[in-house]
Amino acid sequence: MQHPKHSTASAPGKVILCGEHAVVYGQPAIAVPLNRVRAQATVDAADKGGIVWYAPDLGETWRLGDLPDHPLAQLTGATLARIGVATDVALRITVRSDIPIAGGMGSGAALGAALVRALAAFFDQVLGPADVAALVYESERAYHGTPSGIDNTVVSYEQPVWFVRGTDGAPPTIEPVEVRPPVALIIGDTGVRAPTYVTVGGVRERWQRDRQHYNALFEQIGAVALAVRGVLRDGQIEQLGTLLNQNQALLETIGVSSPELEHLIGVARRVGALGAKLSGGGGGGVMLALVTADTAEQVQAALGAAGAAHVLHTTVSMHTNEHP
Ligand code: PMV
Repeated sequence: MQHPKHSTASAPGKVILCGEHAVVYGQPAIAVPLNRVRAQATVDAADKGGIVWYAPDLGETWRLGDLPDHPLAQLTGATLARIGVATDVALRITVRSDIPIAGGMGSGAALGAALVRALAAFFDQVLGPADVAALVYESERAYHGTPSGIDNTVVSYEQPVWFVRGTDGAPPTIEPVEVRPPVALIIGDTGVRAPTYVTVGGVRERWQRDRQHYNALFEQIGAVALAVRGVLRDGQIEQLGTLLNQNQALLETIGVSSPELEHLIGVARRVGALGAKLSGGGGGGVMLALVTADTAEQVQAALGAAGAAHVLHTTVSMHTNEHP
């Protein structure tokens, strides 16, 4: 079967605003999309040759037969099955991304969501955010152990989300987060690559040794997330900064911070950020700082001067899903 056409789709990066790690243990967390950095997938009909993936940024090309276990190959198969298309189609799939890889900005989940959408569109089908998120979750689960599901959710819904994982196989609670007025964040990447499964595994070991203590810490993180939701809704920016700092202190206590993260967090606070914390798995990866129009530039410049590998400015608002 040949499809004489072409489709393209994209999905944003993301950061976790608050609640990471505790979210794995059933506490709420809030994640926000990063619309200025996106992953994109393009599907073109091919004459023959089965399915070929091409990643021009990495200079890589591979075929289904060469790497059947590749995450994108698996996700392509699952998506085609979901939309009722056999895998004996001839397609050329091009994937690109300007989201820093393995930095806690959701590059893998975004690439997955872009791929699912582009494939569905190619076959004239529309998959809603819940369907896209579910397909990407299965793919993430195969490669990253037992993720909470927050990453695939925020990149598929493309809006700030309140997320509580379901227990015993129940679906998660996913609600939009009211943000008024919009909030500005500066994201700084330490450049230190720390796989999330390593920090998540470390927390699990410590939790197994002292469940009571860790459950109490997770509950405190959950209480911070609940308070963050309230101050975002009510526009209490100063309180938001304080809550982000409290969340950082709790993340330090559960052992997922790092000297590089704390260096950037300290710099951001010293030059005027209202609050700052690590974001995502920790141990490296990214931090975020809450800024105002008056402090954004100085925080951004100071993080760059302090050695951040990437520095991004993003605005969190309720309608962040317009594609630039
Ligand atoms: O490292 P990231 O940005 O993918 O975030 C992981 C968030 C954790 O809460 C640490 C793990 C999870 O599965 O939710």
